Amino acid sequence: MYDFAPADTADKPALHADLRAAASAIVAGEPDAIANMANVAALVWQYLPDLNWAGFYRLVGDDLVLGPFQGKAACIRIPLGKGVCGTAAATRATQLVDDVHAFPGHIACDAASASEIVVPIMHDGRLIGVLDLDSPIIARFDAADAAGLEALCRAIAPALASSL
Ligand code: SME
Repeated sequence: MYDFAPADTADKPALHADLRAAASAIVAGEPDAIANMANVAALVWQYLPDLNWAGFYRLVGDDLVLGPFQGKAACIRIPLGKGVCGTAAATRATQLVDDVHAFPGHIACDAASASEIVVPIMHDGRLIGVLDLDSPIIARFDAADAAGLEALCRAIAPALASSL
């Protein structure tokens, strides 16, 4: 049994540092990318408040394909350049969307989603997938979340690339 738990803090950078430490610890020494994505999705869901979806899409050919996640069942394939996830993947840039209904081409997987952040995951100079978080609250995510999640993805990318 793992007994990770977030510190009771309103300090976002501290919460993200805590999440990153837990995620780094749980993937350490484990080569299976799917197992690692599953555990990291569970930790993100546990540590970060006000989410209705958190998980991974993996780059397979020219599509993003659904990976391990927490939340409602979601769309399985997203072509590069489509939706928030496909835009993050195509541009290799974090997408911070305050209001998903104002994002042209947003792909609705859960009607409850109001805001979204998608972070590309790079390893050895290549894109291996994206980390996608949705919230039912408008403008739930900010620059501190972007910085924290980008640092998380950098820290765990080697452990997510192993069996892709
Ligand atoms: N909203 C995403 C699709 C994935 S779901 O949010 C889980 C998008 O527009 O790419």
